[in-house]
Amino acid sequence: MVANIQFHHITLALIFCSALLAFQVTSRTLQDASMYERHEQWMARYGKVYKDLQEREKRFKIFEENVNYIEASNNAGDKAYKLGINQFADLTNEEFTSSRNGFKSHMSSSIERTTFKYANVTAVPNTVDWRQKGAVTPIKNQQQCGCCWAFSAVAATEGINKLKSGTLISLSEQELVDCDTKGIDQGCEGGLMDDAFKFIIQNGGLTTEAKYPYKGVDGKCNTKAAANHAATITGYEDVPANNEQALKNAVANQPVSVAIDASGSDFQFYKSGVFTGSCGTELDHGVTAVGYGVSDDGTKYWLVKNSWGTEWGEEGYIRMQRDVDASEGLCGIAMQASYPTA
Ligand SMILES: *[C@@H]1O[C@H](CO)[C@@H](O)[C@H](O)[C@H]1NC(C)=O
Repeated sequence: MVANIQFHHITLALIFCSALLAFQVTSRTLQDASMYERHEQWMARYGKVYKDLQEREKRFKIFEENVNYIEASNNAGDKAYKLGINQFADLTNEEFTSSRNGFKSHMSSSIERTTFKYANVTAVPNTVDWRQKGAVTPIKNQQQCGCCWAFSAVAATEGINKLKSGTLISLSEQELVDCDTKGIDQGCEGGLMDDAFKFIIQNGGLTTEAKYPYKGVDGKCNTKAAANHAATITGYEDVPANNEQALKNAVANQPVSVAIDASGSDFQFYKSGVFTGSCGTELDHGVTAVGYGVSDDGTKYWLVKNSWGTEWGEEGYIRMQRDVDASEGLCGIAMQASYPTA
């Protein structure tokens, strides 16, 4: 009798174990298969084609790692923002930052002190969104060219031109990429927004996106197109560094070019919500602050226009936490802000 019971126990235990094992094996394979399927669907969605099977396998592994990271981050639920599987999901963070971010911090350090016309601005609104005032063109896409600096400077120029003339005109980044060799500006290899403003001033203006369309690669300057001036600026000013209040005064008056550290994985896969980091302050990306506000849960944010298409972030925009403890601002957003003057 006793022996019989023991036998039953053993049998039951064995069945249970092998059943669990079988279940694990099956679910593992299913997971791999579904990940492979997801990669395939993702490839179709973004029109990705790999040169051979080896490359595809390598990209699949990176995709899998990124998807696992994104889902773990979202499932943890401890962040105010969500990540998403976007067009950058088959790139390592290193590959991503080296091909997209082209802001060159003041290496040669020819920092010229400018005046700041919004120094004594006192009453500014609690919320500003320049899109609602028709001063922001639709989201653009720099593609695989490190000319974020051109997109940032152009968005700020489009903004001041609308405020001055009443007309919103989409202006040419490619003109800056091809024709601007001011300071350290080097097309797809990087540049500075201030140097872009200098070029626009000395060139006598900038032509339209339509007359000098974006190509996403370095090219020879089309001097005929560049001679057309759809918008002009008379100068530019730097916002006093490391002062989010000064930045607020400026953004309350016009869209402002800002430099940020966009090198983190969470920035690469940002989808929605108020981004709170983590990030450093090694400025490597130029974007445009087109407003600010306070989210439903009371978090203050900067409304930032990026140039990575509408699939990234909130239809191409990111809300970045404002008034953080560090004077540099989140990701260094208050370190090197500047704007063109009419
Ligand atoms: C701001 O106010 C100070 C003190 O009154 C003055 O010296 C400065 O010129 C003003 N700046 C601007 C840009 O108006």
